[in-house]
Amino acid sequence: MSMSLPDGKEIRPVRFAREHIGQVAELERRFFSEPWSESALSLLLTEEYPSFVLVTDTGEVVGYISAQRALDELQIINLAIREGYRGRGFGVMLLETAEAYCRGEEIVSLSLEVRESNSAARGLYKKQGYREAGVRKNFYRQPTENAVVMIKNLI
Ligand SMILES: CC(C)(COP(=O)(O)OP(=O)(O)OC[C@H]1O[C@@H](n2cnc3c(N)ncnc32)[C@H](O)[C@@H]1OP(=O)(O)O)[C@@H](O)C(=O)NCCC(=O)NCCS
Repeated sequence: MSMSLPDGKEIRPVRFAREHIGQVAELERRFFSEPWSESALSLLLTEEYPSFVLVTDTGEVVGYISAQRALDELQIINLAIREGYRGRGFGVMLLETAEAYCRGEEIVSLSLEVRESNSAARGLYKKQGYREAGVRKNFYRQPTENAVVMIKNLI
């Protein structure tokens, strides 16, 4: 699975590795009110946290999906695409990468929380077949906001 951009850049998903920590930490700080630090992100190097990045052929991280495995379920922690690369299907590519991993590992469902006001992300998850399974009141800080829980079953 890879995608070519009009400027010739080739973008492909790879497993999150130590060399990606700095760029992912920068994206975390840019997009999330409670970002994971570089040392927290090193957790994602372990088998319990199967996580993926989209990279260009020159090693730029275009986006990433962090996740934690809990038995036969994958809990998506965060997902983001760098601003200049949005609206081209890379969000879909990240979710499909995580799903392909799950199918190879006999993981039967994916779940996540998303801010109620985040219509872009909610639109992405809905398009990919996630259903709304409930609301966690005041789940987020800075600003305080409800989370919508979304789930996709693979079987
Ligand atoms: C949410 C996010 C990952 C989407 O990434 P993306 O690469 O732009 O998404 P895609 O191009 O794959 O879009 C797929 C679908 O998502 C939905 N979508 C994406 N951006 C949208 C927007 N701004 N408004 C409404 N729906 C949107 C659409 O349904 C779209 O399908 P379409 O192109 O057929 O209309 C990106 O906006 C982002 O990084 N946001 C900041 C971080 C964030 O909020 N992460 C979610 C944490 S839970």
